Amino acid sequence: MVDIHTHILPGADDGAHDMEESVEMARAAYESGTEYLVLTPHVGAPGLPHNYWSREMHRRYADFWRALHAAGIPLRIGYGAEIYYTSEMPDRLNAGQLLPLAGSQYLLIEFPFDVRPETVRDALSCVNDAGLTPVLAHPERYRMTARDPRAIYDWVKSGCVMQVNKDSLLGAFGHEICDTAHMLLSHGLIHCAASDAHHSDYRTPKLDTLHRYLTQIAGERCADLLLKINPGHLLRGERPEQGEIIPF
Ligand SMILES: [Fe+2]
Repeated sequence: MVDIHTHILPGADDGAHDMEESVEMARAAYESGTEYLVLTPHVGAPGLPHNYWSREMHRRYADFWRALHAAGIPLRIGYGAEIYYTSEMPDRLNAGQLLPLAGSQYLLIEFPFDVRPETVRDALSCVNDAGLTPVLAHPERYRMTARDPRAIYDWVKSGCVMQVNKDSLLGAFGHEICDTAHMLLSHGLIHCAASDAHHSDYRTPKLDTLHRYLTQIAGERCADLLLKINPGHLLRGERPEQGEIIPF
């Protein structure tokens, strides 16, 4: 499987505390069937280190990669970021401080949970204007999605990629977010699923449970599409497969 959203880089944000936990998470990911994962620390999020791309950040990504090799874990690693949208985004993009996913044209973006649809619309235009394609992290966790899912429909139609979280579908964030995630899935509005892993014991990187669950509720083809095929397309810079979209 391919995991495009993880907080495994040690000490960078509210994810892995140290290198020991990072390596433990990487091992758990590999043992659960993940072959390739992208490091996506929070960038620009309030209350966390800003993590804008720099020589120092490059050193920290490389240190993690070396620790993985030293531990004998044959996991492929991509560099990326989960970017918290602010009005500074165009300048930061111009300055090369915001990494797309594994060198592709896809930029993973997030918002506060009470974001207004107008703000998301501005962010999506900003990413498109920069010649990149937005990947909206966990749309099911924003309150606006349950209130007005037609906005998600419009954004998918305009080319935005939607990434659902493992723990949303499995119910770990409560029934409302779980229901919203399933509603988006049943309308054909989800392109890929990812762990959004933060720790080794909670919000873990283990995707095998989700693959089994998706196989049960939607069939193996859907599980493969969300966890293997489409994230693979993104990291190769290709369009994800889009099935039938059911309007609201
Ligand atoms: Fe995240």
